[in-house]
Amino acid sequence: MKPRITVVGCGYLGATHAVCMAELGFEVLGLDVDAERVTALQEARPPFYEPGLEPLLRKHVENGRLRFTTSYAECADFGDVHFVCVATPQRDGEFAADLTFVDQAVAELAPLLQRPCLVVGKSTVPVGTAERLAPLLADAAPVGDEAVLAWNPEFLREGFAVDDTLRPGRIVFGLPEGPGAPYAEALLRQVYVDAIGNGTPVVVADLATAQLTKAAANAFLATKISFINAMAELCEATGGDVTVLADAIGHDPRIGRKFLNAGLGFGGGCLPKDIRGFMARAGELGAGDALTFLREVDAINQRRRARVVDMAQEVLDRPWAGAKIAVLGAAFKPESDDIRDSPALNVAGRLHLFGAHVTVHDPQAMANARRSWPTLTYADSVLAACSGAHLVLVLTEWDQFREVDPDRLGEVVATRAVVDGRNCLDPVRWRAAGWAYRALGRP
Ligand code: UDX
Repeated sequence: MKPRITVVGCGYLGATHAVCMAELGFEVLGLDVDAERVTALQEARPPFYEPGLEPLLRKHVENGRLRFTTSYAECADFGDVHFVCVATPQRDGEFAADLTFVDQAVAELAPLLQRPCLVVGKSTVPVGTAERLAPLLADAAPVGDEAVLAWNPEFLREGFAVDDTLRPGRIVFGLPEGPGAPYAEALLRQVYVDAIGNGTPVVVADLATAQLTKAAANAFLATKISFINAMAELCEATGGDVTVLADAIGHDPRIGRKFLNAGLGFGGGCLPKDIRGFMARAGELGAGDALTFLREVDAINQRRRARVVDMAQEVLDRPWAGAKIAVLGAAFKPESDDIRDSPALNVAGRLHLFGAHVTVHDPQAMANARRSWPTLTYADSVLAACSGAHLVLVLTEWDQFREVDPDRLGEVVATRAVVDGRNCLDPVRWRAAGWAYRALGRP
């Protein structure tokens, strides 16, 4: 018998995980405390945009393999394996992660657990969280230490979340010490039987290492991005071209070309808050020195936003007040409607505060952007956003923006001036069409 799965927290991570577990043949019950979200999911409407998610959600809601609830009691009753996928945002006014939702999920679920089961943390947490929660779980659960806690970090990327979940690059099992370990490992191997059968590497680790893996992976990715953005600063100082530099060093397989795209830098719900949470935790552990370099990684990243604003000022042929600016992109990256810590909206907001009239267009993130940044103006198409603009900024590298015809766009703008914040346009083509073209780290 396949284990029955529950997923606590149906955000970007949890909803995707629930849908993909159903696709892999499991009976799944998703829980969220937001009743509206549960209703939407139960009606096969994903609460966010993620390519490929909607058809799978529909398929498994219709065949009954996937259901959603707001009831922890129903979850406890249903599941053999409970995945905790709730958010761990940055604490207000601090670097540390806010664990309220993780703590709540375990506190709500534990007293209802009447039979042996595995609780699996997937949320990104400061190392030590699992060790703190395990005894709380066993103490509060009627079934005692037969409610076992393991950690199984998630590495999915938004925009590729379905594929990353169905076909992960690696699977990490963080197992507790003692008799719970073989039980946890056996159940996790059942859950991931297809991926393991397809050759996906499994790394079996202790709880601390598993929690650290996620933080370390995100810190490395953030560092790689900030490294190439630092090189972009040097390219600007010397007349070099960072895109060519990235190609040149990326051919070395020890370095690799991925995550060497210089530009406006990283945003989103993970990298920025995860590197800060990691620094905060290292400090608490007395190992703060180990991660001081992440301060620099963060600072380089923040400088990108300021640099794009400066560059816009350099190109703009008039004062900010009264200037019409088109911003293409609101999502923190393409193929997503997620605007959490979006570099694009951060720049748009700064220009608006300078007195410019800023019109934003994004293929998917308009509704979210409107809600969070109501003072900006929004347009339903690239041409409408750019109509009469004195300057166009491309700040999220959607294919729709890469494919824009500079001649056609040139007909609707007031001034042919563009800042390519993601190095995603062809400078030769845009300049040939009479545009003043500027980009980060490129002549
Ligand atoms: C990230 C990790 O990749 C993923 O493994 C983890 O589970 C969650 O955090 P995600 O936030 O979805 O995933 O986005 P990612 O593709 O990593 O991009 C993060 C940010 O970095 C985006 O704003 C993106 O535009 C930026 N980026 C990425 C660059 O600026 N340059 C690059 O070369 C790559």
